[in-house]
Amino acid sequence: MIITVFGLGFVGLTTALGFAQKGHKVYGYEINQKRVDTLNNKVLPFHEPELDDALIRHLNKNFFISNDLKSALLESDCVYYCVGTPYGENGQANLSYLFSAIDSTLNEIHDNKYRVLVTKSTIPPTTTKNKIIPYIENKGFKVGKDIGIANNPEFLREGHCWNDFINSDRIVLGVSDNKSKEMIMKLYEKFDCPLFTVSLNTAEFIKYLSNTFLATLISFSNEMSIIADTLGEINVSEAFKIFHLDKRWNGSDITSYMYPGCGYGGYCLPKDTNAIYALTKSKGFNAKILENVIWTNDNISKFIVNKITRTIEKKDKIGILGLSFKPGSDDVRDTAAARIIKELIQRGYTNIMVYDPIAMDDFKEIYDLDVEYVSKEDLIEKAEELVITTAWDEFKDIKQLTDKQIVDCRYML
Ligand SMILES: NC(=O)c1ccc[n+]([C@@H]2O[C@H](COP(=O)([O-])OP(=O)(O)OC[C@H]3O[C@@H](n4cnc5c(N)ncnc54)[C@H](O)[C@@H]3O)[C@@H](O)[C@H]2O)c1
Repeated sequence: MIITVFGLGFVGLTTALGFAQKGHKVYGYEINQKRVDTLNNKVLPFHEPELDDALIRHLNKNFFISNDLKSALLESDCVYYCVGTPYGENGQANLSYLFSAIDSTLNEIHDNKYRVLVTKSTIPPTTTKNKIIPYIENKGFKVGKDIGIANNPEFLREGHCWNDFINSDRIVLGVSDNKSKEMIMKLYEKFDCPLFTVSLNTAEFIKYLSNTFLATLISFSNEMSIIADTLGEINVSEAFKIFHLDKRWNGSDITSYMYPGCGYGGYCLPKDTNAIYALTKSKGFNAKILENVIWTNDNISKFIVNKITRTIEKKDKIGILGLSFKPGSDDVRDTAAARIIKELIQRGYTNIMVYDPIAMDDFKEIYDLDVEYVSKEDLIEKAEELVITTAWDEFKDIKQLTDKQIVDCRYML
């Protein structure tokens, strides 16, 4: 089949190359010219294992970065939207990138060919039914007759994008008409996993079930770490490691979310938890568990900064180890390190140096914070107190390199 993918970020590029790998012809369309130029040089604009090889394998063979959107769309059977859905007003999802991409599509397709427009971006339940379909119909297309609409949420994890997409454990497809269903099922023909076709609202909801569950586990673990600290003389990392041995979850990846740290960050969990909470609240239900999950995450940095400032004076140099939201990634969107640094600066601790193995450039670009960017060696030598904010493997043996005070916010040492 022939597909156009809007947005070549973590999800879009993976989707485009993944479908190319399964034998489809894919056009990628991206509005960020810097990203386009980088990709055209066969280089990834972010750190993502295996995706780099896939790009080299498929670029200009069956994956093409389009600068002629009209031709790409006219050729395509399916159009995938993988654009960002960031924080919007009152915590709700900002759908402006999605609607802009839909507009760009509808402006170009007036040839009576039946295409399916598929949203892979994460959008709150009821968005397709209550917003996207009426919007498209308003533009003169009859959904289910002239054009198909579907929702196909993505569950990949950054750092594992390629494998999570190619070897998906389940595919969820929200559809409301048979023709769209058949076309997308054909697209996924070569995937070896169950494909569930559900209603549009259910497909959107399934994505939020995952993300709010993960956020809840993390906030629960963080709250328990505060309880332990409040009660005193509890070895938190030892306690959680023994807790992980329960055979109901031992050995499962889920235990990485059942461990305290500095709060969840990254692109998805914070905004998605907020978005479904805010949307439901606007409909009259105040979801108490989610409200507290969000509260704990918003406040864990204060608890951590209290720990840091217990032993260090304002004039002293603090060395922050780790800027990305998790190890193995250079993604610094909504990263806990930024929240902690901001809180420290606000409390008058302005002598801060930072180090990360791969995320320093992106951090510098996104956050305008008055900190010194240094090597790990310089940080260990010059800082009075070290603070681990991302659990990079290379920090595991830090105690062998220095006997300075270390605040281990990730309970990794
Ligand atoms: N990152 C993840 O781990 C992950 C996992 C599952 C789902 N999601 C969801 O997938 C969506 C995309 O996430 P991401 O991390 O890939 O974001 P991203 O910011 O890495 O990529 C989005 C890309 O879309 C581009 N874009 C925006 N408007 C466009 C337009 N009109 N035409 C073409 N390109 C356009 C942007 O320039 C950007 O490169 C979000 O809704 C996110 O919540 C993300």
